[in-house]
Amino acid sequence: MSESLTEQEIIELCKTHSMFSWSRGNDVNPWPIARAEGIYMYGPDGQKIIDFNSQLMSVNIGHGHPKVREAMKAQIDQLLFVWPGAATEVRARVSRKLSQLVPGNLNTFFYTLGGAEANENAIKAVKLYTGRNKIIARYRSYHGATNATMQLTGDPRRLANEPGMPGVIHVMDPNPYDYSFGSSDEEKVARNLQYLEEVITYEGPDTIAAMFIETVTGTNGILPPPAGYLAGLRALLDKYKILLVCDEVMCGFGRTGKMFAFEHGGIVPDILTMAKGLTSSYAPMGCMAVSDPIAAHFKENVFWGGLTYNAHCLGLATAEAVIDVMHEEKLIENASKMGEIMRAHMQAMKDKHPSVRGFRQIGLFGMMDLQRDEAGTRMAPYNGTHPAMQALGAHFRANNLFTFVRWGSFMCNPPLCINEKQLDEAFAIIDSGLDITDAAMDD
Ligand SMILES: Cc1ncc(COP(=O)(O)O)c(C=O)c1O
Repeated sequence: MSESLTEQEIIELCKTHSMFSWSRGNDVNPWPIARAEGIYMYGPDGQKIIDFNSQLMSVNIGHGHPKVREAMKAQIDQLLFVWPGAATEVRARVSRKLSQLVPGNLNTFFYTLGGAEANENAIKAVKLYTGRNKIIARYRSYHGATNATMQLTGDPRRLANEPGMPGVIHVMDPNPYDYSFGSSDEEKVARNLQYLEEVITYEGPDTIAAMFIETVTGTNGILPPPAGYLAGLRALLDKYKILLVCDEVMCGFGRTGKMFAFEHGGIVPDILTMAKGLTSSYAPMGCMAVSDPIAAHFKENVFWGGLTYNAHCLGLATAEAVIDVMHEEKLIENASKMGEIMRAHMQAMKDKHPSVRGFRQIGLFGMMDLQRDEAGTRMAPYNGTHPAMQALGAHFRANNLFTFVRWGSFMCNPPLCINEKQLDEAFAIIDSGLDITDAAMDD
């Protein structure tokens, strides 16, 4: 039996002897968490916390689902690890299940430990398949923290990690940060694609292997693409034989109210990357799905990629159970239904609070932006902060609402099993928090 530690000991030991992501060790103030169930987490002293970000937008089915825990325990008793060159029953079952689940001709899967590794292997696959070496990615993006995926990433986390893999061309999102290329979706899409075609021409189309997009951009703004963008992009890239890779590590697995976000746009990418919701983060696993032509290529040619934990049995058994739970409990339908209710709450916050600049939502993927004045000046600039945003974060914490406050915005990404009453509970805390940002507006 292991010793039991006090809440303070837990915090101090974690801070002293472990490193935390994306932070100065002295600045972190971790929430001590002892257990979690559904949309709630519980501290060692029993306080109940609403998980309004599904941790890292990843615990899609909610915490601690008994069916998934049972399936994991059964796999532990059956078989835990064999080298990736082996064939296992769970690998066979999950690969068949995914080939039925993922639309279009995406029928072949390479299993990784997480999202960055899925993208890292997609980089290899597109280069090996096309024989081209450059990749287009967008500034408003996050694709992972490994060397190559950090270079695909456009957000400020890339800057401290440069230089890295060469050959990445960054381009603007169809939704630029603080202005628009046009007012209607049609106009935005036309201008953005015109710009993109010019970039492709300057860079040399036959040097570009692929373009990576987050189908709905996540951390960098929860940005659903304007209507027509995905179809237009697909057609433009096809014209130059540039592959389309949809990174759905965050927006996939029901988050947007469809199993995969690209389904909203009526397209199918050449490669799809997944992680997070694939196992609801109960076990670390990511996956790259490749189209039939790419799969056929790698039947004839070596795929120069590998991982000790490729196709790990525990991750696979977890994914299998998570996908079953999503279907049995109609969680995608719930994300779509509860998404409408969340939108109504967001609109009510905008109507009531002058500091709300705007919001975006698709399914249970949402973000609210705050402003300093009626003219729409963001409460905090790009990559910046403001004392009112820190106070808002402190208010959420004091009231046991876990979510991310980033720059001048905060996230609304609850588990897909949330119900109406729980949304009311969360928005009551948000409502009182927005009084703080209202009071901080410039006179
Ligand atoms: C869109 C996207 N891609 C890739 C990643 C990297 O995934 P992981 O942290 O599992 O490596 C993330 C993580 O947040 C992500 O949001």
